[in-house]
This record gives sequence, C-alpha cells and structure tokens, in this order.
Amino acid sequence: MFYILALFLFILIYTTMTKITYKDQQGNSKTIEVENGLSVMEGAIQNDISGIDADCGGSMACATCHVYVEEKWLDKLPKAEDGEVDMIDMAFEPKKNSRLSCQIIVNDELDGFTVTTPEKQS
Ligand code: FES
Repeated sequence: MFYILALFLFILIYTTMTKITYKDQQGNSKTIEVENGLSVMEGAIQNDISGIDADCGGSMACATCHVYVEEKWLDKLPKAEDGEVDMIDMAFEPKKNSRLSCQIIVNDELDGFTVTTPEKQS
C-alpha cells in the first residue's frame, strides 16, 4: 500500500512541474522544474536564480523581478494589467517583451518558457 501511495505522489508531483529557463545577459542559462501555480519569480527565488531579487515579494511594487520574455511565448501569456505596465515603465531598460516575472503564473502550457534578466539585474 505504501509503495502505491508513494508512486501516486511521485506521479502527481512530477506532472505538476514545468520547465522554465532563466538566462542572463552573459549567456548563462539554467533550466528549472517549477511547480505549477507558482510564479516565474517564485521559481527563481526558490532556486537561487541570480538577477531576480523580488524585493516586494510579488506585489508589483519594485520591478526587481523584471524579465524579457522570449518572443515566441508572448502570445501564450495573459495581457499585462495596467499596474504591471506602469511598473515596467519604471524598470531598467524596458522593452516590448518586458514582463514582471511575479505576474507570470507557471502552468503546463509554459513548458520550455524562457526569460532573460536585464543587464543591470545580472
Ligand atoms: S517582485 Fe516586486 S514587482 Fe515583482
């Protein structure tokens, strides 16, 4: 009975993880399995990804979680809310593919999702 329960838990945990790749401006790259339901920022913090500090803890008040989203993924994300757009305007070198990683919630559809941290945050 224990083995069946352990197998069930393993399958449950394994299938609720999504691969997210974090890159920096120096070309370093790290791919992490992040639990669905967490934000891309939380995945970075839990795995010591440098360049994502998240000083406000995800309340859209700091922009230290600013990332550039790889172009092919932009259409798969919900549109940024006004508060996020305002905060991105105050971030270092915002671009058209800028997002706050604390506002991107990981799910199965984002498997392979890739973000790059701005130079100043690296
Ligand atoms: S963690 Fe502060 S705006 Fe995202």
